[in-house]
Amino acid sequence: MKELTNRIKTNGRVLGEGVLKVDEFITHQVDPELMEQTGKRFAEVFKDQGITKVVTIESSGIAPAVYAAQALGVPMIFARKSKSLTMDEELLTASVYSFTKQVSSTISISRKFLSAQDRVLLIDDFLANGQAAKGLIELCQQAGAEVAGIGILIEKSFQDGRKLLEDMAVPVVSLARIASLHEGKVSFLEEDA
Ligand code: G4P
Ligand code: NA
Ligand code: NA
Repeated sequence: MKELTNRIKTNGRVLGEGVLKVDEFITHQVDPELMEQTGKRFAEVFKDQGITKVVTIESSGIAPAVYAAQALGVPMIFARKSKSLTMDEELLTASVYSFTKQVSSTISISRKFLSAQDRVLLIDDFLANGQAAKGLIELCQQAGAEVAGIGILIEKSFQDGRKLLEDMAVPVVSLARIASLHEGKVSFLEEDA
């Protein structure tokens, strides 16, 4: 998606260790217009898939996910990383290992929000090693829901996430695909949409 790759070129910053900082428009300060454009693009791509819910994980997946859900006319659910005080219902839970932080954490969604009747579109801001997406897929599987596809804003194609998800037979659509982050420079692959 040209608007997103252009914005990464203008406002993204390469940190060491293969990390792209996008806090000007996604992960801290949020550009609602750009997020709405990405949500609409995901909705366009998945409009014929019978999507009934959009699912993401807090916090940076929420903005694009809510716009995708609005464009598809369905609810958005975000998995929580810590247990909410008022979460007294039965939970779907999965363990997510972060290679970056080298710790596992538990993510959860209330069981009442996902069922075997649902066809889910997963959305996230980054695809790196794919562990967060894998955890979201596990939550959907526990509910008997079908994952119809995954929409990603920024895929770091030099990491293993995309292969992991494709091996699980889930279609992945990334709006920006990064081949490398060498020497402070962002190199792109052809994007999916
Ligand atoms: P994985 O899910 O693909 O395995 O990712 P990993 O554990 O490596 O990533 C942990 C966190 O870092 C995730 O956010 C992920 O979105 C984010 N991340 C991964 N690569 C980059 C990057 O190059 N740049 C930026 N800015 N973030 C990256 P989180 O901390 O779990 O969530 P959030 O609350 O920030 O959304
Ligand atoms: Na995220
Ligand atoms: Na993030």
